[in-house]
Amino acid sequence: RKNDRESMMIVNSFAQKYFSEKLLQSEEGMAVGMSYLRERGFREDIIKKFQLGFCLDSWNAFSEQAIQSGYKKQFLVQTGLSIDKEKGLIDRFKGRVLFPIHGIAGRTLGFGGRILKKDPKAAKYLNSPESEVYHKSRILYGIYQAKKSMVQNDKCYLVEGYTDVLSFHQAGIENVVASSGTALTADQIRLVKRFTNNMTIIYDGDPAGIKASLRGIDLVLEQELNVKVLLLPEGEDPDSFSRTMGATELSQYIEKNETDFIVFKTNLLLADAKNDPVKRANLIIDIVRSIAIIPDNIIRSVYVKECSSILNVDERVLYTEINKIKGRLQ
Ligand code: CTP
Ligand code: MN
Ligand code: MN
Ligand code: MN
Ligand code: MN
Repeated sequence: RKNDRESMMIVNSFAQKYFSEKLLQSEEGMAVGMSYLRERGFREDIIKKFQLGFCLDSWNAFSEQAIQSGYKKQFLVQTGLSIDKEKGLIDRFKGRVLFPIHGIAGRTLGFGGRILKKDPKAAKYLNSPESEVYHKSRILYGIYQAKKSMVQNDKCYLVEGYTDVLSFHQAGIENVVASSGTALTADQIRLVKRFTNNMTIIYDGDPAGIKASLRGIDLVLEQELNVKVLLLPEGEDPDSFSRTMGATELSQYIEKNETDFIVFKTNLLLADAKNDPVKRANLIIDIVRSIAIIPDNIIRSVYVKECSSILNVDERVLYTEINKIKGRLQ
């Protein structure tokens, strides 16, 4: 098993180098893949830093080369790089720009592949399948490139996607990781915790992004991290938004607009509740529930104070509610 894992990572490493070379040096890669990335505004140093690649628009160019170079079919199939068909191996990522997904130590565990043309029938991104080496729920995209800066800044930005991570680096912000579109998991938060206890969630400015932020907050609180949220203007994601401003401007914008999770939740829910007393009561219960999750008494009391002043509710009332919830949790 351990040998299998190692063999799979060796195949992934071969694939990463092969795809990078195709992107940077083959005629098709330069004409199609690089043009796409350049049109989106990605700089070459960022493309190289993240070891992006390109899989030729051929059924099996990669698989053939891999077999010829001595890699075993078994590991090509187990990593999902190749798909085993009756007629032979075919390339999973045919015609896509590839984002290698690195583990903490910088080894390639899997890939995300973006389609270049709009095609309603095909998925925009195709990812490596779950395997011995690639567990989507335990990986954060960009962690290898972010970890140093996460420690230096004692802070981490959490975004949704591959391109969001790249654009932040391009703007000079390196302490950023992506949950890659899936719901954040406890394993992923534990990964962040190895480097910092402070996280700001910057999800896409759409209803899905807001919903995911709300879900993320409670999970992050449970793991005893301090969590803030930055809500982006409607229709923007960190990639598109960071391109509208320079590097210093972006940092300043984030610093100025990121809000404590309590404020984020309150504003969001308050906008909906307005002066409806029943809705207001539900809103208070909702926020109290988040506070009750926080394991540390002192941190919890700070939030109770804040919540009490924002919502204009007596602290004692909030504590009564929290104790009720905690009693139920036990
Ligand atoms: N994602 C995925 N499969 C899809 C769509 C999305 O795995 N079919 C993941 C990818 O990791 C993607 C992230 O979810 O980066 C966020 O999705 P989305 O916001 O739709 O994509 P962007 O990252 O904004 O990608 P792009 O800018 O290239 O459109
Ligand atoms: Mn798994
Ligand atoms: Mn999105
Ligand atoms: Mn997006
Ligand atoms: Mn995007």
